[in-house]
Amino acid sequence: MRYNDPSPLELRIISQRFDLPNSVSVDTYLANDGYVAIKKAVGMTPEAIIEELKASSLRGRGGAGFPTGMKWSFVPRNTGKPTYVICNSDESEPCTCKDRLLMENDPHQLIEGMMIAAWTIKSNKGYVFIRGEYRYLIEIMERAIAEAYERGILGKNVFESGWDFDLYTHTGAGAYECGEESALLESLEGKRGIPRLKPPFPAVVGAFQSPTILNNCETFSAVPVILRNGGAWYAGLGTPKNGGTRLMCVSGHVNKPGVYELPMGFPFERLLNEVCGGMRNGKKMKALIPGGSSSPVLLPSECEGLLLDFDSIAAKKSMAGSGGLLILDEDTDIVAVALRTIKFYAHESCGWCIPCREGTTWLKKVLTRFHDGAGLQGDIDLIGELANNMLGRTFCALGDAAAMPTAGFITKFRDEFEAYLQKSQGVRASELTAVPELAAV
Ligand SMILES: Cc1cc2nc3c(=O)[nH]c(=O)nc-3n(C[C@H](O)[C@H](O)[C@H](O)COP(=O)(O)O)c2cc1C
Repeated sequence: MRYNDPSPLELRIISQRFDLPNSVSVDTYLANDGYVAIKKAVGMTPEAIIEELKASSLRGRGGAGFPTGMKWSFVPRNTGKPTYVICNSDESEPCTCKDRLLMENDPHQLIEGMMIAAWTIKSNKGYVFIRGEYRYLIEIMERAIAEAYERGILGKNVFESGWDFDLYTHTGAGAYECGEESALLESLEGKRGIPRLKPPFPAVVGAFQSPTILNNCETFSAVPVILRNGGAWYAGLGTPKNGGTRLMCVSGHVNKPGVYELPMGFPFERLLNEVCGGMRNGKKMKALIPGGSSSPVLLPSECEGLLLDFDSIAAKKSMAGSGGLLILDEDTDIVAVALRTIKFYAHESCGWCIPCREGTTWLKKVLTRFHDGAGLQGDIDLIGELANNMLGRTFCALGDAAAMPTAGFITKFRDEFEAYLQKSQGVRASELTAVPELAAV
């Protein structure tokens, strides 16, 4: 099931089976091109599979947009250690709600994508790491895995190849940090979910100290169709270096929010006006957060002619990230958005490194004071300074994920912050002493 009506402008590639009756069953999958790609893959060399992926220009859909074929090529072979394939279905970045649809509607597509990765590095074991709050999806995934075993698809001697592959689910415990790949691996190994120092990257030292392919759920879900139709075909759907389609999760003040599968490089203005039916109540757009809450905000002027792919959004100094687009109208209180955003990151900081733990907490405190009408002269610069001092100084990118949007709000909407300050001028000194540790900042 989908949560919104499909749009005729969509290009349904990885969501092509979503509306089929009983789309989760192995029979539906087998009747609709299912497990054709893995059969083909076991007749291919790892090099040929990686070449196909490189030709597809598939880039990771988890956030960073790293080229998938290149990532798989980094996994060392014949180290004498086991190898692992891990699916990141932690999906916790605010505004992002696509991996749940992939698991809810087409779990076998994900299983097949992971199997192709596993064959490529001759891994015998894989895990789907599922966000703890997605309990109902764990049941769907486990049922699909059980069906794949019953049909002899998973398990011993996959498609007469002489290769065995077992797949398991593993649940997170509701921590955003465990979506970060190295913290995910710690959590999977039964330890506290904190990030590892990188390098080495998971490709070389991943799960259980062994070489590992770790990708996002949507990334794996795109692999079967690439092997069926060819890398060049997939690349041709998108823009140069940004192959294929992606599930774009649109929320905010639009008439038809939803998750839409669109070619990479789809124009933002068409997404807003033709796919999502324009702004709600005829309002003007004030801002776009283009790739999950950690991506820096864009002004309407920056969205003119904007193509929705990794490179075009990066050229505007923001990120396509996880594909979650939040569109805000002219009535939106940006200071409130900045506060809401930092509250999330302060709550989710794992506390492992000081710039993130302290930085997010201080940002939350100062922004709370500011938002509540007790802003001090100098707070706007202080917020910007705190954010900039976090950038690039943390073990993992959670610190950046908190700092980048905050710095963006301050820079691009400084006038709104100034107006808040004007309103705060009448606040009595006695009210300020209610937050003495902040007054001393
Ligand atoms: C704090 C934090 C949270 C993250 N959460 C997720 C997540 O929920 N899902 C995801 O796929 N990637 C997440 N990532 C990115 C992963 O670390 C990793 O880059 C990604 O899973 C790799 O897969 P890909 O190459 O297919 O994108 C997160 C990164 C950070 C820093």
